[in-house]
Amino acid sequence: MNHTFDKSYWDDIWSSERAGSMSTSDPNPHLIRQVEALRPGSAIDAGCGAGAEAIWLTGAGWAVTAADVAAGALAFGEQRAADAGLSDRIQWVQADLSSWEPNQQYDLVTTHYAHPAIGQLEFYRRIATWVAPKGTLLIVGHLHRHDDAEDHDHGQRQGQGHSHGHGHGHGSDEDSEHEGRPPTEASTTAAAITELLDGDIWEIETAEEPQRTMTGPGGRVTTIHDVVVRATRRN
Ligand SMILES: C[S@@+](CC[C@H](N)C(=O)[O-])C[C@H]1O[C@@H](n2cnc3c(N)ncnc32)[C@H](O)[C@@H]1O
Repeated sequence: MNHTFDKSYWDDIWSSERAGSMSTSDPNPHLIRQVEALRPGSAIDAGCGAGAEAIWLTGAGWAVTAADVAAGALAFGEQRAADAGLSDRIQWVQADLSSWEPNQQYDLVTTHYAHPAIGQLEFYRRIATWVAPKGTLLIVGHLHRHDDAEDHDHGQRQGQGHSHGHGHGHGSDEDSEHEGRPPTEASTTAAAITELLDGDIWEIETAEEPQRTMTGPGGRVTTIHDVVVRATRRN
């Protein structure tokens, strides 16, 4: 790996040319499917990027905190919320969520493809503690596939650096030969996430590894392999 997913990495991403296209993504379909039947309450989107999910949640009646380490991401989000007439209904927080602690718990803690320097499972372990009793944890991440490691290593040898090519907020190097495949350190599995969640505390509602297609710039279609875990905190 020729970088870490630290603040300066994400600041660079969100001030790069590709940030413009990243900032127009639709809300994640897994979020909509997993959350639409829940009763709205307080929510936090951890690593919210340009705010598509935070804005969707707000429109669905949730009182949303949208948190991201990158000021550039939040600026896009605030503009989108203003355009949607929702400015005053979302609390935007610039924070490094590997160390930041909220001063409340939330009825919904959700994250979509955020991968901070501390690593996926440690990040998920942290944000799970922010869920209120009877609340919901929803994790949407990159699936770790056996061929990811080989593919990523090859990309690095070619000096291509890091790319995902998903167009949903962390760069879209559409020319990369490992386009559509996240680096191994940014991916996980449903089993690894559910193992984090103590059965005495959590009821697993969903643990899936679905795939979907996205159409990117130039009409290019990419298959995305996701991990989706939804759990309810028992008490
Ligand atoms: C791949 S983007 C996904 C953005 C958005 N959730 C989406 O699905 O489009 C990952 C986001 O996580 C944020 N992020 C990474 N590390 C973070 C950290 N330590 N604290 C807060 N946000 C972080 C990045 O700035 C970036 O906006």
